[in-house]
Order: sequence, then C-alpha cells, then structure tokens
Amino acid sequence: MIKLTYLAHSAFRIEFEKYKILIDPFITGNPLSPVRADEVEADYIVLTHAHGDHIGDALEIGKRCKSTIIAVNELANYFNSKGVNAHNMHIGGSHSFPFGKVKFTIAHHGSSDSDGNYMGEPAGVLLFINGKIIYHAGDTGLFTDMKLIGEMNKIDVALLPIGDNFTMGISDAVKAAEYLNPRLTIPMHYNTFPVIAANPDEFVETVKKIGKSAKKLNFGETIEL
Ligand code: NI
Ligand code: MN
Repeated sequence: MIKLTYLAHSAFRIEFEKYKILIDPFITGNPLSPVRADEVEADYIVLTHAHGDHIGDALEIGKRCKSTIIAVNELANYFNSKGVNAHNMHIGGSHSFPFGKVKFTIAHHGSSDSDGNYMGEPAGVLLFINGKIIYHAGDTGLFTDMKLIGEMNKIDVALLPIGDNFTMGISDAVKAAEYLNPRLTIPMHYNTFPVIAANPDEFVETVKKIGKSAKKLNFGETIEL
C-alpha cells in the first residue's frame, strides 16, 4: 500500500514499504506547511524544477537524511556540487529505483535558481510504484501532450497546479484532468501566496461536472493507494 500525504503547495510525501519519498519539499517559509523541515525524513527527494517554492528544504533534508535527489541533469549537478547524492535524469527518461520507477515529462515553465542561474528544463514526473501511477505535473501551463501522457499511462492520481499566474488556473487544470484521464485528480499550488489564491472546492466541483473524480486534500492529509 502507498501512503500519499499533502504537505501544502506542491509538496507531497509518498511512503511505500520502508521508503520515504518527498516531492518538491517547500516547507520552511511556507505558512501553510503542516510540518517542520527538521522533522521530515526522506530516502529520496524528487524535484520538478529549481524555483525556491519547489527545491525548498531539499538541501537541508538531503544532507541530514542522506537522501538521494532525483532531478534533471543540471539541477541534479547542483545538488551533487553541494555534497548531496543525486541521480541525474532528463525529460523522457525513466529509471528504476528500489521503491519504483521515475519518469520525467515536459512542463512549460522556467527553472533558474534565485541568482538566475540556469538549472535545466522544468519537468513533471510520473512515479510507478507498486502497480500504481502517480503524475505530479510540477509547475506548468496546459499542454496537449497531457493527452498522450494519459493515453500511455493509466494514471491513478494526477496532482495538478490550479493557482494561476505562474501555472494553470482552474479552467486549464480542468482541461488537463480531461486530457490525463486519471482515476483521481488532486489540486495543488494554490493559496500559498496571495497571487496564487484559488478555490480548490471550485476546481473539484468543476472536474466532477465533466464526469471525473477529484478531491481536495487538507494540508497534512494522507490518502492510501
Ligand atoms: Ni516554478
Ligand atoms: Mn511554483
């Protein structure tokens, strides 16, 4: 069984067997985070891109827990240069880890660090764990290849940004849910900052209107897959 916990913004924790996997652990500085950075543990940290609200506490957690960072080449190199073990990948590539398989997809966005240094291309990520498929879209605008991602992968849970301004807003994210056709869609990347204020209940209701399943997770809430 897989446990999926929403840590607010785009941060999720996946627990499967003895493995703890974090995605985009932006905790310190996130007023909505239900956890403290120094209390979370990770064997692996998957990063979609280098923006501060996604790499977040990855360096601190990675050093403390001796985690392996999984990211596109340029971003993985950054963590390697800081003394954290990283596995370099890139968009379109997949690799099997002890907990399951990871595949990076395209995302339409940017990915520089706070000094403006290029950190590779932004990505979304597919996680294949114990027969289930989780898709984390990262930060992205809507793109029609989501239809292909959905056709080639029977997605169990799609994690989609809805906060607008930097990513898809609600109406585009509903279209993404239609393209991806997952068993369940969960909204993310909303309400952390005023500029990405969005109503997750409105998203959930609109997805349901097109005959698909969606659920808002509370901050810190866990579901089992
Ligand atoms: Ni971003
Ligand atoms: Mn973001």
